[in-house]
Amino acid sequence: MALTVTPLDNAGAEVSGFDINEPISDEMKAELKSLWYEHAILLFRNQDIDPDKQIEFSRIFGPLEMHPLKVNTDEKNPELFVLENGGEMDKFNTAFYKGEEIVGRLDWHMDLHYTARPNHGALLRAVVVAKEDGMTGFGDLAKAYDALDEETKELIAKLEVAYSFSMQRRHMRYVDLDGYEPGPGSPKKPTDIGFPDFADAVYPMVVTHPVSGRKVLEIVEQFLDRVITPQQHGLSNDESIELLERLVAHTRKPEFTYFHEWRDGDMVLWDNWRAMHCTTGTKPGIKRLINRTTIEGDITLGRVLTAE
Ligand SMILES: [Fe+2]
Repeated sequence: MALTVTPLDNAGAEVSGFDINEPISDEMKAELKSLWYEHAILLFRNQDIDPDKQIEFSRIFGPLEMHPLKVNTDEKNPELFVLENGGEMDKFNTAFYKGEEIVGRLDWHMDLHYTARPNHGALLRAVVVAKEDGMTGFGDLAKAYDALDEETKELIAKLEVAYSFSMQRRHMRYVDLDGYEPGPGSPKKPTDIGFPDFADAVYPMVVTHPVSGRKVLEIVEQFLDRVITPQQHGLSNDESIELLERLVAHTRKPEFTYFHEWRDGDMVLWDNWRAMHCTTGTKPGIKRLINRTTIEGDITLGRVLTAE
């Protein structure tokens, strides 16, 4: 049976024509992997998935990685990272956006980006679909790079950018803080939720994808902090800040982003070396459960900043 590939709006593709509960041939595995590199974001619908099947299917794309945050892993299946709205973690994950109380909203990010060694990819499965809201957004940063003008491409080719890990969203410099208020249980420092602290991570502003060779604009709003030594590249601090503001606005453009509305039986796989993602969150009390498997990042794309 041949796979059918249908492009999604603006970024990624839906792939159908296989059943996760039937044996998948080596040939089809290779085709799935190459589609992952071609489109960065793959949607699979109407699959009858259980935890074992999700883990087995994810291994097509590489060895799996456990998340450092043990509190979110499934006891029976440590390969599964559990993302839950409407549960006991809500108290940490609730904040106010223009007066509206929202659980689990996350800005555009790449997983483990703050470690300088992001995981290669991840696969999300909807276990409980939220009654309303709860979308996951994906953005293709290779497409975003390609769409830049030549002058900007030349300028950013030599620049590096630093990411500063922070628990408090209001300390982040490039997220949209208009009308934002933390919730009473929002963590103030990493140890509040058992998280280690991280030194700054530095990336080239343009990263060459280790497998496909595509150029990826390494700009994601979460934790984005500054251009490294801008003056050495002919930019004032003010110009470097304006450049980052312009690039962040560019990455958010609808032409590179796809927002997924979850249905039962959906799985979404993305290439975390190329695509960013975000979540829109849910209203308080709404149940949403997502299981994530994580494909190991075996290459350090950035560097940990020990001196500047
Ligand atoms: Fe994430």
